[in-house]
Amino acid sequence: MTGDLTGALARLLSPLAWRTPARSARKLYAFALAEQGSMLDLRLAAARTASPARAAAYLRHADDEARHAQMFARRAARLAGEAPRPFALPPVRADSERLFELLGEREFLAFVHLGEERARRQFEAYVTWFKGQARDQDAALFEAILVDERRHGEYTRALLFALAGAVEARRALRRVARWELGRRWLRAGRFVAERVYLALTLALYVLAAPLALLVRLVRPIRPGLRVEGPAGLPAPK
Ligand SMILES: [Fe+2]
Ligand SMILES: [Fe+2]
Repeated sequence: MTGDLTGALARLLSPLAWRTPARSARKLYAFALAEQGSMLDLRLAAARTASPARAAAYLRHADDEARHAQMFARRAARLAGEAPRPFALPPVRADSERLFELLGEREFLAFVHLGEERARRQFEAYVTWFKGQARDQDAALFEAILVDERRHGEYTRALLFALAGAVEARRALRRVARWELGRRWLRAGRFVAERVYLALTLALYVLAAPLALLVRLVRPIRPGLRVEGPAGLPAPK
């Protein structure tokens, strides 16, 4: 359900998201950051898990995400240079969310699985759109990355079901989906709150202008030094 929504949204927003080289560059840069962030989380998971086999799988996965981050960043830099007003993007430096520690391994696997499935549907929609626009280079980029994302989605599901059993695995998927929904809701709220605060501050600033003018008219500032006595009293003559 959420996955279908992700694909539909990606299809709907593609013309807007990829409209210009500058926009495309920023979007690809955001993908590079996300890929690098999950690379960090997977490396931490590999260090924390009790299973050497799962640690190896997480490390392989982390290498893929590091490669994806580089591929996205390279294309983003190229597009930023092709913009009518070329610009340079900062180096890709993501933070780890320490999700393995926060959620535990079962929920962490559910989280990664859901994220991979979402990315797969989103990227599939982009490939279709880029092909329709004859943007072969961008279509090829996403197609190459999709091969890995499909594998990531499959192996994380298999590991989750092997670790927790079918019933618990399904429960973990539902729990994490709800948790993510709450997290996104909070983030969206913060995003809106920041903009409302900015708008209100600006409005206050503009509204204060006539007041400042009035104060100047009533109490004009006279040039020259005003000598005042203690506590603002006139200086003794
Ligand atoms: Fe990836
Ligand atoms: Fe992935």
